[in-house]
Amino acid sequence: MLDLDIVVFGATGFTGRLVAEYLLTHHTELRVGLAGRSAEKLERVRRELSESLPDAADAPLIVADSTDRASLSEMCRQAPVICTTVGPYALYGKALAEVCAASGTHCCDLTGEATFVRWSIDTNTEAARASGARLVHCCGFDSVPSDIGTWMLQQEAIARFGRPLDHVSFALGRSRGGASGGTIASMLELMKQAGSDKAMRRLLVDPYGLNPEGERSGPDGRDRVSMGWSEDFDGWVAPFLMAPINTRVVRRSNAVLDWPYGRDFRYDEVVACGGGLKGFQRAAQMTALFSGMGAAVLPPVRALLQRALPSPGEGPSREEREAGHFTAHLKGRGVDSHGAHVELEGTVQGFKDPGYGETAKMLGEAAACLALDDSPVGGGVWTPASALGDAYLDRLRAAGMVFDVS
Ligand SMILES: NC(=O)c1ccc[n+]([C@@H]2O[C@H](COP(=O)([O-])OP(=O)(O)OC[C@H]3O[C@@H](n4cnc5c(N)ncnc54)[C@H](OP(=O)(O)O)[C@@H]3O)[C@@H](O)[C@H]2O)c1
Repeated sequence: MLDLDIVVFGATGFTGRLVAEYLLTHHTELRVGLAGRSAEKLERVRRELSESLPDAADAPLIVADSTDRASLSEMCRQAPVICTTVGPYALYGKALAEVCAASGTHCCDLTGEATFVRWSIDTNTEAARASGARLVHCCGFDSVPSDIGTWMLQQEAIARFGRPLDHVSFALGRSRGGASGGTIASMLELMKQAGSDKAMRRLLVDPYGLNPEGERSGPDGRDRVSMGWSEDFDGWVAPFLMAPINTRVVRRSNAVLDWPYGRDFRYDEVVACGGGLKGFQRAAQMTALFSGMGAAVLPPVRALLQRALPSPGEGPSREEREAGHFTAHLKGRGVDSHGAHVELEGTVQGFKDPGYGETAKMLGEAAACLALDDSPVGGGVWTPASALGDAYLDRLRAAGMVFDVS
């Protein structure tokens, strides 16, 4: 049927509604449908959206449930691109990924669950190659600033020095944002699985855990788990909660694109906390938070967190999202084609809450890119940089994010 360009699946959830609002506001050239498991909730979301966006009143509604494959297949017949925020993805994302791969429907999502992405690579690659479906995981705050930021820096290095950089470090700098119930539920689900499954724990600590089979080794070691001083970022640094997914996505981009950054490329991520006593204290706090999240493999800690943190459907208010922001710094090192040492710095910035305001933009633009732009790759299970590359970088810049090289 293909009456639509993009279907937002999960439009009744906290983030899905923001993505729908983003697309209906900024991509009026696209026909966008709203999908979810409850017709009544979908009607309500459409009514509320149309109070400020009159065009939203005409948005078609599609009832689909991730436990009902027939409804997912029917949804995939409505549009060439499904943009899904139905998570935790390990619980609710698998059937849709399989249906998209089989039916040749492109799909982008917000997962940050490495175990789900590994499952998708192992299960869907063959069918997606055959059907032409591009499945693009991790199109939110995890892992777009890392993946597209590194892509940008390496493109510039190749243009300026004739060679990619050997080593890129990424540091999350000043940032302000909240967490939604769906994100908390996804993190807790990941920790629950890790607590009971040894193979999963091994995957989560494998720096090359998302690389293709046979390509799962390289010079990078495990992620940072303690605080320390960084010359690169001129201050104290702490472990970054999202490094375990982001670093794997960046390494996978390099591997699936046939090593444009080189086989010896190294990549790491930290949180930059600043210098002096304040920086030291912040790094100590961030490190304690990181260790605390690790303790969520234990059921009593998970139960405690579940009670204290937002429930599914809840998240930061509009005011909080508007007051949010983030800045990430990239520092790259290498040698030029004459063997001389070279350095390059990059900045990625967003001016709303990273996990929601900016994430709605990142996922919305990924969906627009899948719907409108020529892709450098065919069907398969991809990362943002490998499937969307320069066209996506241009879109994110045009949408107001900063991706800058100096
Ligand atoms: N990468 C990032 O930066 C980032 C940022 C934000 C969110 N996320 C991820 O995005 C996901 C959603 O987060 P959220 O806070 O928006 O969650 P949420 O508010 O709980 O929304 C979840 C959505 O999934 C739907 N759903 C649940 N079970 C379903 C089923 N069986 N069939 C169809 N739909 C079903 C819910 O429908 P009902 O309304 O009917 O319950 C709702 O629309 C999470 O996995 C989260 O980790 C990632």
